[in-house]
Amino acid sequence: MRTLDDESQHDNRQWFERAKRVIPGGVDSPVRSFSAVGGIPITIDKGQGSYLFDTEGNRYIDLIQSYGAIIMGHSDPDTLKAIGDAASKGTTFGAPTVGEVLLAEEICSRIPGCDLIRFVSSGTEAAMSAVRLARGYTGRNRIIKFAGCYHGHSDGLLAAGGSGIATIGLPGSTGVPPSSVNDTIICPYNQIPPPDILDESVACVIVEPVAANMGVVPPAPGFLEGLSDACNSVGALLIFDEVITGFRIAYSNATAICKVVPDLYCFGKIIGGGLPLAAFGGRSDICSMLAPEGPVYQAGTLSGNPLATAGGLSVLRRLDKNAYSELELKVRQFAIELQNCFAAAGIGAMVSQYGTLCSIFFGTESAVHNYEEARSAASAVTSNGANMYAVFFHRMLEQGVMLAPGPYEAMFVGMAHSNSDLEYVINATKKAASGLSFK
Ligand SMILES: Cc1ncc(COP(=O)(O)O)c(C=O)c1O
Repeated sequence: MRTLDDESQHDNRQWFERAKRVIPGGVDSPVRSFSAVGGIPITIDKGQGSYLFDTEGNRYIDLIQSYGAIIMGHSDPDTLKAIGDAASKGTTFGAPTVGEVLLAEEICSRIPGCDLIRFVSSGTEAAMSAVRLARGYTGRNRIIKFAGCYHGHSDGLLAAGGSGIATIGLPGSTGVPPSSVNDTIICPYNQIPPPDILDESVACVIVEPVAANMGVVPPAPGFLEGLSDACNSVGALLIFDEVITGFRIAYSNATAICKVVPDLYCFGKIIGGGLPLAAFGGRSDICSMLAPEGPVYQAGTLSGNPLATAGGLSVLRRLDKNAYSELELKVRQFAIELQNCFAAAGIGAMVSQYGTLCSIFFGTESAVHNYEEARSAASAVTSNGANMYAVFFHRMLEQGVMLAPGPYEAMFVGMAHSNSDLEYVINATKKAASGLSFK
């Protein structure tokens, strides 16, 4: 079915050619490009539940789900209604709204130790602002991040980021002056930084409590607890970047699994109901340092946008604890069956599943603990020397299954994926895996 009116004669290739003429690389975010897997990106016409439809009318089971921003499925009627109702009253005001208060109350009531929260428009802004706040509060400059964790594309946080920056094989970005990263220290994930690194000069340690931008890499037992203790002992703040994990792995966040309550949080993706919204917050004594109450400046014209807060609230209010238990069960079963497909095909692959998140690591059958191991898995090649993930990706795409076009992203199974969708993906995996072999 074609719904692009006078543009309907275009296919994916033509749209991409047109896009490249006016948008660098034809994409507004590098993770959308097919540079790691080869070929032409699919141009989306619409999404419906668990499906995406491209400009040629092809249907795909979508395991990207806007990189985790969608959990109720595309075009979810209740979310659309909430957004529509809000839009009918105006789209942005530059003044306080009821919607932002309601969403802030919902988030603070669900997240342990989150007394205050401020809305922004992207996860990048949330992480950047949380770090600024930590620096302002502690009066220190140095920060610690972990290799393979992604905290958005601000200058000081891009180094050794996972996700798209890993996919295109960059250590960081040109255009970031060395002075912006002089105070960023990178440590291996799942290892507590030693005391000569995590010392009293460190403002904060920022971490994805479950890493989901180098594939899904769970925290080793004791890692988050040890990190929290190490931070406390030197007065450094601990920031959980839960832009992916918040309201995705649990009714609340990673505290539900590790019991660690960090000083600050970053949220994004799900809290905007599919619209641009993110947030950072935490302890009230720290957050009170933000302007206008305190000296740490942070602002945004569209921050707390009423459409986004309405969409987010509609989503969060429908996700009770049972919904997460059911989703986790669904994902666990899915991951087991995926793993069985690879085992039956004799392919060395590890399906990493943690809570409601999962991803595939090729080239290894054991658990991945850090970025180094994730990178080695991502570079696994077939007996013909082709990148394993790229071959698998295209074999799945041909069967109508949309995986992320890069090996470092999580697979997002949500409330709209039916058992038959997931069965279809499993059968497609069996076909894709058959005849694949490693060098
Ligand atoms: C953990 C994490 N933090 C921050 C970000 C940046 O969010 P945004 O893309 O909204 O700027 C992302 C994006 O994927 C993320 O996964």
